[in-house]
Amino acid sequence: MAWIGEIDLGTKPAPESAASVALTIDGQTIEVPEGTSIMRAAALLGTTIPKLCASDNLEAFGSCRLCLVEIEGRNGYPASCTTPVTPGMVVHTQSEKLKKLRRGVMELYISDHPLDCLTCSANGDCELQDQAGAVGLRDVRYGYEGAHHLDAARDESNPYFAFDPAKCIVCSRCVRACDEVQGTLALTVDGRGFDSHIAASQDEGFLASECVSCGACVQACPTAALIEKKVVETGTPDRAVVTTCAYCGVGCTFRAEMRGEELVRMVPWKDGKANRGHSCVKGRFAWGYANHRDRIMKPMIRASIDKPWEEVSWDEAIAHVGREFRRIQAAHGARAVGAITSSRCSNEETFLVQKLIRQGFGNNNVDTCARVCHSPTGYGLKTTFGTSAGTQDFDSVMHADVILVIGANPTDGHPVFASRMKRRLRQGAELIVIDPRRIDLVRTPHIEAAHHLPLTPGTNVAVLTAMAHVVVSEGLADEAFVRERCDWNEYLDWAAFVSAPERSPEATELLTGVPAAELRAAARLYATARNAAIYYGLGVTEHSQGSSTVMAIANLAMATGNIGREGVGVNPLRGQNNVQGACDMGSFPHEYSGYRHVSDQATRTLFEDAWGVELDPEPGLRIPNMLDAAVNGAFKAIFIQGEDILQSDPNTSHVAAGLAAMECVVVQDLFLNETANYAHVFLPGSTFLEKDGTFTNAERRIQRVRKVMEPLNGYGDWEVVQRVANELGLGWRYRHPSEIMDEIARLTPSFAGVSYDRLEEAGSLQWPVTEAASEGTPTMHIDRFVRGKGHFVIADYVPTDERTGPRFPLLLTTGRILSHYNVGAQTRRTGNIVWHEEDRLEIHAHDAENRGIRDGDWVTLRSRAGETTLRALVTERVAPGVVYTTFHHPTTQANVVTTDYSDWATNCPEYKVTAVQVLPSNGPSDWQEQYRAQAGRSRRIAVADAAE
Ligand code: SF4
Ligand code: SF4
Ligand code: SF4
Ligand code: FES
Repeated sequence: MAWIGEIDLGTKPAPESAASVALTIDGQTIEVPEGTSIMRAAALLGTTIPKLCASDNLEAFGSCRLCLVEIEGRNGYPASCTTPVTPGMVVHTQSEKLKKLRRGVMELYISDHPLDCLTCSANGDCELQDQAGAVGLRDVRYGYEGAHHLDAARDESNPYFAFDPAKCIVCSRCVRACDEVQGTLALTVDGRGFDSHIAASQDEGFLASECVSCGACVQACPTAALIEKKVVETGTPDRAVVTTCAYCGVGCTFRAEMRGEELVRMVPWKDGKANRGHSCVKGRFAWGYANHRDRIMKPMIRASIDKPWEEVSWDEAIAHVGREFRRIQAAHGARAVGAITSSRCSNEETFLVQKLIRQGFGNNNVDTCARVCHSPTGYGLKTTFGTSAGTQDFDSVMHADVILVIGANPTDGHPVFASRMKRRLRQGAELIVIDPRRIDLVRTPHIEAAHHLPLTPGTNVAVLTAMAHVVVSEGLADEAFVRERCDWNEYLDWAAFVSAPERSPEATELLTGVPAAELRAAARLYATARNAAIYYGLGVTEHSQGSSTVMAIANLAMATGNIGREGVGVNPLRGQNNVQGACDMGSFPHEYSGYRHVSDQATRTLFEDAWGVELDPEPGLRIPNMLDAAVNGAFKAIFIQGEDILQSDPNTSHVAAGLAAMECVVVQDLFLNETANYAHVFLPGSTFLEKDGTFTNAERRIQRVRKVMEPLNGYGDWEVVQRVANELGLGWRYRHPSEIMDEIARLTPSFAGVSYDRLEEAGSLQWPVTEAASEGTPTMHIDRFVRGKGHFVIADYVPTDERTGPRFPLLLTTGRILSHYNVGAQTRRTGNIVWHEEDRLEIHAHDAENRGIRDGDWVTLRSRAGETTLRALVTERVAPGVVYTTFHHPTTQANVVTTDYSDWATNCPEYKVTAVQVLPSNGPSDWQEQYRAQAGRSRRIAVADAAE
């Protein structure tokens, strides 16, 4: 439990490495690093100097003049927030003169401020109110009758927060938060003198402006001028619990601030090492789905999928699941059943699901949704470096001189990390973007990519090989690093391969669509940087050559010596909150936790001894193989926890056929998702707010998830899995998720030093956490690669079998937007719906004109696999020949058009390349109309919820 109102030291810390400076403040001596402000030094002593415009996550500004102090030997009254300490300085923070000056400043603020403190929503949680008390203001000499701003109109346009200019003291904290913390630069102080006011973009209101609703300005505001609507509705919070966001792989930690049992607001936690006090719109605001009326709270069963659901007790549901799985195994063999773990659930929960399959069902038929996103990352990085994970922590980006972003759109997909990356870019780091789309990072306020390589979808390997060609043929490789750290003979083979003339930028220009000169310049920039870091996303992995691309990236980093220190590395931006953890916990059919192969006798013996059963040495089925086997009649039952495979997996009709062929499909989720249409048992799931556990983010950072409220359905997901296991006679006796983590630590070398007690002490830990690295491992492969020598793998470009032609002349690629998350099950049930009511098809103006399509027209998107209908967005963000859409709405079902092609090594589907045709249409098809009507209902509910 954290206390409400974290301490604000007023200004940012000086570097710890700076020389120490001793000074005296109000008679007390203190030593602080050179560069520390007087305000911060005083706060460290426990002396609070009144302040309004200062905050310790912003650069000092010095505008409010409330923090004046006296310094012996110096004239005047300098602002303590902007005055650094000097050796021997003697400071006085309290004197009659200072009190009078501060009261005078405060009088001016209060004379133009509504005097409604008692009824103000921020009463008791307002710095202006606190500071008026602190300076002893009792009355305003000027009266309240003069010109004022008290009638200024409120802006209620944002679904989550309101702006009341009458309460604004124009301290600029919001403007600076938007600039410095978020990096969107949506706010300005417009006008001069008395007319100064805060304006969003061109004074058009928050919703219509560039604001991305991250809430940093709301958090920064010292008054109720910017305030969460939920605080207005509920009142100020009275307690807080620190927990971790359950949306994306950044892993932001928050103080969940409560009033009684009600969640009032999520405030990014300053001590959170992944987010450092920042968040995006999803984590901060989009949690209303947890109480949404669509949530299913009672278990349900039905004899067949054409029958209506029947609510049953938990006892009946669990008994039914146990009976069905045992019956099916008896009739069809031990391998006729399996499970899918969820990257939304905790480490402890995924560990239990794979244990249930391995120990309880005696096979390895367990897979996870990473199959359809980052499984090539696991394969590629394990092969080249020896570990299936990224190499750095997020802070590392602040040491990068060149940042290469390939197949990722961080401002939408990983927004809090993107803010940190943008800060580094504003400090002068150079940026290379390799992406078919002109993503926001290419050009955004104060940032312009040095090179944008708009490659043809599907040619990642050819582009990276051409870059490697430049590195090797121009003598830019770091041979000393390669000789010392990598297998030199393999390097020579690889270098000969990439430097062949046919792999040069010029020879591949036509294929990749990237101008050779631009590619050469980008390769030189990357190779010659002091520190160059690569960040990538699903635009790398979701290809038939996903694993090859990951290895091509690793090759490039090794060849240039960009591994093993801060500011460099290979960094997958993982999608879901716990996709790293789900993979770590043994969710793949060939691996136990810690990525140890099921065929390894020593590993199996370890688990057999712990679990008291003989374990299957054969790898199990992957998701697509389970579905194939179901269609062929050999696979009969599945337990799917927190995953909507009908929406998220490729070739929707094949998924439906596989599910329909099974005798028992058990779905555990918050809502009746699309997959549940094919389920025989529905078990209600719990939200991250309702359970204890841990998530592991994209940095390998293990963080606590803490129960904020009791599970509305009665059980945390881990308890449900335990009940199923015990129905099968497994005799599990976990009393708390910490005991599951203890077992994980006992059985998994990279987690050996992890426990809830250690996590409480350290805040978070990055695996491996071992005896040798008890504090965790922020940077990997420092002295040697985990596998020993770095392994160069020749990654030859092989064109995908998915080809354009006269019938399907365009290439479709997909992605997501900031306000929504994956299939949208949660975000569509929140106020976020106002930003993205439907998926749109981005199409270049030339392609649109050739087809007679105007912006907003309905179009049919057709591929060899299927077709769907959506509205067009005519834009130059995509190149001619490329179209793009998001996949957040079931009304679109983008996966109806995606193909069966997949990564050669991991079966990760090729979502990013589909040959399509786009044709004008009269409107949505019948099935889409039905969905649309449903979505309309949800939207009305969601908007009502947000406004309530
Ligand atoms: S809205 Fe709040 S933070 Fe922004 S200038 Fe006004 S009082 Fe300061
Ligand atoms: S919510 Fe975020 S993006 Fe919007 S104005 Fe505030 S700080 Fe800027
Ligand atoms: S960046 Fe990701 S983890 Fe952070 S608040 Fe947003 S969705 Fe949550
Ligand atoms: S807090 Fe120092 S001038 Fe405002």
